[in-house]
Amino acid sequence: MKRNMLCLLLVALALLPQCNKPEETTAPEFTCSKEFWGMHKGDSVFLYRVIWPDSSVLSFSNFGCTVTGMKMRDKDGKLTDIVLGFDSLAQYQASDAYLGTVVGRYANRIKEGKFTIDTASYQLACNNGPNHLHGGIEGFNKKAWKPGTLEIGRDSIAMTFSLQSPDGDEGFPGTLDVQTDFIVSKNKQLTIRYKATTDKPTVVNLTHHMYFNLTDGGKSTNLDHTLELRSSRFVPVDTNLIPKKEFAAVEGTPFDFRQAKTIGLHIEATDEQLEAGNGFDHTWILDYADQQPALAARVFSPISGIGLEVWTDQPGIQFYSGNFMDGKAKGRGGVVYNYRTGLCLEPQKFPDSPNRPDFPTVVLRPGEIYTHTSVYKFLEAKK
Ligand code: GAL
Repeated sequence: MKRNMLCLLLVALALLPQCNKPEETTAPEFTCSKEFWGMHKGDSVFLYRVIWPDSSVLSFSNFGCTVTGMKMRDKDGKLTDIVLGFDSLAQYQASDAYLGTVVGRYANRIKEGKFTIDTASYQLACNNGPNHLHGGIEGFNKKAWKPGTLEIGRDSIAMTFSLQSPDGDEGFPGTLDVQTDFIVSKNKQLTIRYKATTDKPTVVNLTHHMYFNLTDGGKSTNLDHTLELRSSRFVPVDTNLIPKKEFAAVEGTPFDFRQAKTIGLHIEATDEQLEAGNGFDHTWILDYADQQPALAARVFSPISGIGLEVWTDQPGIQFYSGNFMDGKAKGRGGVVYNYRTGLCLEPQKFPDSPNRPDFPTVVLRPGEIYTHTSVYKFLEAKK
């Protein structure tokens, strides 16, 4: 009897899903671990950690292709959080802040959630006042993506996450097969590569929504960071953050970041566009947009000495200065994420493009492949 019980117990233990004990794989330059983090609607969610020899850590999950954390050494050698994140899966499941998540099927706003392709008209879920935002009520940020296997190379570690978004998902037409690759390299670069195909004409605009605070991961505001954007025009918006008719030149406005300046320098200036966004919450049109990722933005914290460059092949970058952050979200270690404690730099096409034939197209048709590559280069603090 006792032996039977013991056998049963052993079988039950063997059948348990991936347990909490991290599996570790070591590449010449890094250690990478994978652990079971919880369940989401019947699918397993994992947490991956890449650890460099200087103890810097990048962690991410297949839930929402979320970057859950990045820690680097500051100029005094102290390990410092530089992206905002939560401690538990349950907090990500409950949050609407897109904290470190992928955003899709359509990043940014679509006016009244309506658009027409050829002769077919569609109505999307409207989750932001009268408009559609970031893929709707349950966007790609709230899905458990299917993880591939970790590929460990000499200089990089790669992971592929895939997802099938059904025809009609949040109102979007077409079954969309999406793949997001994370490639982490030994020199602390995170490359995110997106690919999508459809079986009916649809619209696609994918991006990533990491909130950065290179000083302390969100304890203080981001207003002392310096920012450079390689852009001489931006997309002015109305009070619902829907693009107006014409692009505007940054020259002579608070939107001019062509030379690095502190984010706080002009954020409180009297300006109709700053009022519309309650700060910076606009798409800048990149001057050097190319098929290959080109430098789009540089941020730097003079306090920690840590920097970040964003390179992309997209035509625009949304710079959001954290104006909707209201201190309701308690992040990692109980840190309260107050007003403007995180900033987002989201490479993408332009808002409301499905209704703007004058903007680069976001329509994807059967037989075509949507691609997007962005690279986040974390820059070591100089001692
Ligand atoms: C940003 C967007 C903001 C806000 C935020 C999520 O991408 O520009 O307006 O919606 O996401 O809170």
